[in-house]
Amino acid sequence: MKKWYAVIGDPIAQSMSPVMHDAWFRENGIDATYIPIHVKAEQLGEAVASLKRLGCSGWNVTVPHKCAIIPYLDQVDEAARRMNAVNTVKVLEDGTLFGTNTDGNGFVRSLQEFGASPEKNGELLVIGAGGAAAGISFALESAGFGQITITNRTIGKAKKMSDAFPGSSALSLDEAQLALDKFDLIVQTTSVGMNFAKSGMPLDPTGISEGAIVADIIYNPLETEFLRRASEVGGKTINGVGMFVHQGALAFELWTGAYPDTKKMIQLISNDLGGK
Ligand code: ATR
Repeated sequence: MKKWYAVIGDPIAQSMSPVMHDAWFRENGIDATYIPIHVKAEQLGEAVASLKRLGCSGWNVTVPHKCAIIPYLDQVDEAARRMNAVNTVKVLEDGTLFGTNTDGNGFVRSLQEFGASPEKNGELLVIGAGGAAAGISFALESAGFGQITITNRTIGKAKKMSDAFPGSSALSLDEAQLALDKFDLIVQTTSVGMNFAKSGMPLDPTGISEGAIVADIIYNPLETEFLRRASEVGGKTINGVGMFVHQGALAFELWTGAYPDTKKMIQLISNDLGGK
């Protein structure tokens, strides 16, 4: 029987996941399909029950359900618990609903694809202290990337997050601004600069060290104001397309056992977004 997968969220029409996963199913000769489902917050429990009843093999979870879905699942792994967010569900053979989060590891894969490594990039600055920052920091730490400095508009949240990462420290945005040249890998995880709605930058990359890697998890727009400025002052920049594609690839691998072609997909999505 043809397998089917889904992504649930509100809104959902803009999601590029269906096109991405359907292309990968075709490329890998897998007889399956992937559909977007618009689920409002108050329908979440009913939606999960329906997905299971109708034989869905697994699904992605996007805004605003990543945290709210946790009580409806049977098992949640450490990555998802650390982020307090699930982005991928797999329905196991016996019907168990297993939740994980591939965002952090997706980010690390995209960094590695770009040539970053713990040996070359040991001085890390993470901007932001929300769920995305926690997941990325956890994945970076697991992959052996050095000590993490966390900076956030609300310093209390940065301090709280740094308590969860032995050896990490917290700085205010002003302090981080002054110490920028210390870091060789800077990761922007806040929503500042997303979809042109929130223009501006959480801090100004002027002052970064020559050749530092500067990554932004935002992919729409392809180049945030923060990345543009970082590139102007000598940073090697990475936008969020790689993370998006690799988080999808890790979900695809969990469901099918195959790791799909990410390079081609990153190109395709970048062309698509760049043309808009
Ligand atoms: P997510 O789970 O996607 O990380 P979140 O938990 O709402 O989302 O976190 C958003 C992050 O963006 C936070 O670090 C937030 O800073 P605060 O903790 O001070 O709220 C940061 N952020 C949002 N808008 C910001 C702005 N205008 N300037 C600086 N940081 C901002």
